[in-house]
Amino acid sequence: MKNTNPVANTKIYLATSFFNEEQRARIPQALAQLEANPTVGVVHQPFDFQYKDARVDSDPAGVFGSLEWQIATYNNDLNAVGTSDVCVALYDMDQIDEGICMEIGMFVALHKPIVLLPFTKKDKSAYEANLMLARGVTTWLEPNDFSPLKDFNFNHPMAQPFPPFKVF
Ligand code: ADE
Repeated sequence: MKNTNPVANTKIYLATSFFNEEQRARIPQALAQLEANPTVGVVHQPFDFQYKDARVDSDPAGVFGSLEWQIATYNNDLNAVGTSDVCVALYDMDQIDEGICMEIGMFVALHKPIVLLPFTKKDKSAYEANLMLARGVTTWLEPNDFSPLKDFNFNHPMAQPFPPFKVF
C-alpha cells in the first residue's frame, strides 16, 4: 500500500554536539537504530563529511579554523539541511551548543520536521526548556532513550508537542 507501507527513502540529518567523547559516542548508537528503521534511506551526519578532512586532532590540509574552512563547513551543513527531509537532533540539555541550535533553526525556517532526542543527567523534573526550542521542535522524545529512532515513521513524521520538561 503506497499510503501506509514503509519505504526506505527518507533522508535524515543527524545533528549532534561533538565536544566530548560522551557526545560523540551517541552517534553510533543513533545510527544503529536508524539503520534498522525501514523508513530511513540516507543518514547525513555532518562529522562524516568534514571539509578537507579537517578535525581538531587531525588536519592534513592545515585549514582547521580558517575562514575557508568556516565557510565551507557552514555551506556543507546548510546544503545538507536543504537536501534532508527530517532532522534528528541528539540534543545535550546540559551543555549549550549554538551550532546545533542554528541547525534546528534552519529546519524550522524550511518548515521541515525536527525529532529531538534530549540528553540530560539531571532529573527531568529539574530541567526547564526554553520555549523557542520547545515550540520549534516537532516531535519530542523521552530523554536518553535511542529506541524510538528504530520505529519512528520518518515517511510520515507525526508531531509529539509535549516536551518531557517544564517550559519557560
Ligand atoms: N564544527 C566542525 N565541523 C562542524 C560541522 N560540520 N558542523 C558544525 N560545527 C562544526
